[in-house]
Order: sequence, then structure tokens, then C-alpha cells
Amino acid sequence: MPRKALFVYAIPLLSLFAVIKADPTLLSVDCQNTTLDPPGTYSPNSTYQTNLNTLFSVLSSNSNNASNGFYNFTAGSSPPDITYGLFLCRGDVSAAMCRDCVVNATGHVVEQCPGSKRVTVWYDECLLRYSNVAIFADADTRLFPVMGGDSLGLDGLDPLSDPPPSSNSAKQGTS
Ligand SMILES: *[C@@H]1O[C@H](CO)[C@@H](O)[C@H](O)[C@H]1NC(C)=O
Ligand SMILES: *[C@@H]1O[C@H](CO)[C@@H](O)[C@H](O)[C@H]1NC(C)=O
Ligand SMILES: *[C@@H]1O[C@H](CO)[C@@H](O)[C@H](O)[C@H]1NC(C)=O
Ligand SMILES: *[C@@H]1O[C@H](CO)[C@@H](O)[C@H](O)[C@H]1NC(C)=O
Ligand SMILES: *[C@@H]1O[C@H](CO)[C@@H](O)[C@H](O)[C@H]1NC(C)=O
Repeated sequence: MPRKALFVYAIPLLSLFAVIKADPTLLSVDCQNTTLDPPGTYSPNSTYQTNLNTLFSVLSSNSNNASNGFYNFTAGSSPPDITYGLFLCRGDVSAAMCRDCVVNATGHVVEQCPGSKRVTVWYDECLLRYSNVAIFADADTRLFPVMGGDSLGLDGLDPLSDPPPSSNSAKQGTS
């Protein structure tokens, strides 16, 4: 094959590779840590942090095989150290992208919200949420704008009227 043809074929291949290997896109982070009852912050090396590490580990290891791109877990057994967590991947992302996103989210969220017990982090591909109060039955409408209302089945809410706090989401066109 002539050299020029190889070159021409190489460009689309390289850009395909770039697309497949793309890092998940961080949209917004919500760190709740003030005026919360019970207190919304934890100390380094506390039991809460240990439970959080367990939670992250379980969520990451289930991110490749979770049905519907969703998984929830509870680490610890009693307040104030119990932590509830979940991830949810966008319906149309691949299992591999879902895993990459959750692994990335669990690996970086503590840097993004140091000491905060109640956090939601939105990526374009997934969201990660954890809290010291039960969150599984409580539909947080702030999940809504980024992930898309239809896939969550929450009727009667207007995604655009309730954007996530401090959003830098390109998707929403705000800054
Ligand atoms: C937390 O534990 C690590 C390892 O045991 C230690 O290096 C670090 O100094 C501890 N931090 C605090 C604030 O106690
Ligand atoms: C997913 O895989 C992990 C580790 O491989 C396993 O512990 C877990 O039970 C699996 N979860 C599901 C929902 O199949
Ligand atoms: C996951 O959420 C359901 C409610 O949707 C709850 O009943 C269940 O206990 C949760 N699982 C864990 C491991 O926390
Ligand atoms: C997570 O994504 C960021 C960019 O959003 C990237 O810099 C980082 O290397 C990724 N980390 C992992 C562990 O995938
Ligand atoms: C509280 O949250 C803000 C972001 O909202 C963050 O910058 C700050 O580091 C957090 N502080 C603690 C103690 O968690």
C-alpha cells in the first residue's frame, strides 16, 4: 500500500481511538457541607471516611456489570457513620464508558469535595451520589437536568427550571 494511502487511513483510525479513550466529562459538583443536621462533614481517617472508601470500592467493582447502569450500596451500619451511595450511568453509554466514568468519579470526588458527607457529582456519562442520610427513595430533582428526565421516569418536573447548583455544564449552555 502506498505511503500516502496509509497516512489517509491512519487519521480516522487515530481519531476513533481518541473518541474511545476520551475521559469522562465532568459537568458539576455539589458539595453539601454547611448548616446540615446531622453534620455534613467528616474528619480525615474517621469511620465515615473508611465507610466511604468501602462504598467507592463496591461501586467501582460493580460499575462494569450493573444492570441498567445503576447500582446502590450502603456502607457502615449506624449513624453518624453510615453512608449511602449510588451511581447511575446515562442510558446510551457503553458498559466500558460507564465503568470508566464511575471509576473516575469515585477516584476524584474526595479531592473535589474534601470532608463533605453529602456529595453529588455529575459527569456527562454518569453521576455519583453519596450521603449520610438515606437517598434511595428520595428523588433528588437535582439529578434531573443532566441525566434526562425520561430515563428517570420522574414525571411532572421541568428539567430546565431546576438546574444543578454551580453548574458549569456545557450541555445546559450556562457558565
Ligand atoms: C491518617 O492516616 C494516615 C495513614 O495511617 C496518616 O499518614 C495520616 O497522618 C492520618 N491523618 C490524620 C489527619 O490523622
Ligand atoms: C459485579 O462484579 C463484581 C466483581 O466482579 C461482583 O462482586 C458483583 O457481585 C457483580 N455484581 C452484579 C450485579 O453482577
Ligand atoms: C438499594 O436501594 C433500595 C431502594 O431503592 C433499598 O431497598 C436497598 O436496601 C438498597 N441497597 C443497598 C445495598 O443499600
Ligand atoms: C479522570 O478524568 C480526568 C479528566 O476529566 C482525567 O484527567 C483523569 O486522568 C481521569 N482519571 C482516571 C483515573 O480515569
Ligand atoms: C465545602 O464545600 C466547598 C464547595 O462547596 C469546598 O470548597 C470546601 O472545601 C468544603 N469544605 C469542607 C470542610 O468540606
